[in-house]
Amino acid sequence: MENFRFKGNKLLWNNYSLDTIAKKNKTPFYLYSYNQLKTNVSNFKKTFNKTNPLICFSLKSNSNQKIIKEYAELGIGADVVSIGELKLALKSNIKPNKIVFSGVGKTIEELRYAISKKIFLINCESFSEVKLINSLSKKMKLKTKIGLRLNPNINAKTHSKISTGNDKDKFGLSKLEFKKVIMNFKNSDFIEISALTIHIGSQIKEVFPFNNCLNFLNKTIADLKKANIKIKYVDLGGGMSIPYDFKETKFPLKKYASNVYNFKKKNNVKIIFEPGRFLSGNVGIIISKIIYIKEGAKKKFIVTDAAMNDLIRTALYDANHTILPINRRKEIKSRIEFVGPICESSDKFGEYKKFSRLEESDYICITNTGAYGRSLSSNYNMRPLIAELLIKNNKILIIRKRQNINQIS
Ligand SMILES: Cc1ncc(COP(=O)(O)O)c(C=O)c1O
Repeated sequence: MENFRFKGNKLLWNNYSLDTIAKKNKTPFYLYSYNQLKTNVSNFKKTFNKTNPLICFSLKSNSNQKIIKEYAELGIGADVVSIGELKLALKSNIKPNKIVFSGVGKTIEELRYAISKKIFLINCESFSEVKLINSLSKKMKLKTKIGLRLNPNINAKTHSKISTGNDKDKFGLSKLEFKKVIMNFKNSDFIEISALTIHIGSQIKEVFPFNNCLNFLNKTIADLKKANIKIKYVDLGGGMSIPYDFKETKFPLKKYASNVYNFKKKNNVKIIFEPGRFLSGNVGIIISKIIYIKEGAKKKFIVTDAAMNDLIRTALYDANHTILPINRRKEIKSRIEFVGPICESSDKFGEYKKFSRLEESDYICITNTGAYGRSLSSNYNMRPLIAELLIKNNKILIIRKRQNINQIS
């Protein structure tokens, strides 16, 4: 949140005044910052420089092609979860040898396509999937590199809907299926088991769940060694958190980096990461306009033109995206709630006990919406998907136009 400050009464984001942009463009819209994107990449690279990992940006967090192209230009690869994302990664100039394909339910068409493109790694999550890749590769006369995604039964200490590493979750191979894969395919001519993969969830705030993963992997690699199986890569997934309000602390990336480096040295493996939110979360915001202010019996409702179809994270994950006024006035104490126009009680963005005095037609900024914002948007209530703008080199570029009603009806 350190990228926001007020200069006088005007809100600056990455030193850019939001007032002028808000006035010039139809609200609501997403706004991204190239400087922030570049800073995030260079911080991540610098922190892990001793480890020198392959960094695969998780496209599901932000699937705007221009944004992905910017990551690609900075040397970043892609973590994809569908044929659509795989094609988007390739179209965005990401080379196949920097693409990993995750997901619990890849279809035969998706696998055939991924195999034919010779991507870096297909991360498998079931015995049936490995079997299918083996038979497809045989037919296509290719040898495919796969990763085995493990279900370590580790609590990520995050929201239940973004927790993926418990043994009740659908993700990863159980011990039983993992053993079955190893027994049946360790000597296959058509697949090479080259990686172990783990991803236990998202918005993980502390290092200890990741340490538990490293310990689990240490043990698994040692067991495989005993069976004469050498693993070349370990894909540690994503999951690192970002602060969503001024009180939250930053994820201790340096501490994690030092543990990962020790792990890499001990096991003599190459490391892959699949960060989404950590690279893109603070790269985006939503600018919205207040339509009405209405007095409820218990609180004031600030009805914004942005709604849950534009940003569903509050409704889906109880996420708290700090809201800031774009033109600050004197702070007043009163209970207010920001809500959207959609016919659902869950269409809301946050409650405040004190806030800058607001008026109808004021602009507000919904912060940290670069990850799982636009990519999770929908046309619910027949609302067109909103535009995406990018600030780069002091210019404002429209990087995806707002849909019009005719496109969706
Ligand atoms: C397999 C996999 N990798 C990476 C990610 C990215 O996670 P995050 O955005 O928390 O870094 C996800 C997110 O759900 C995922 O499922």
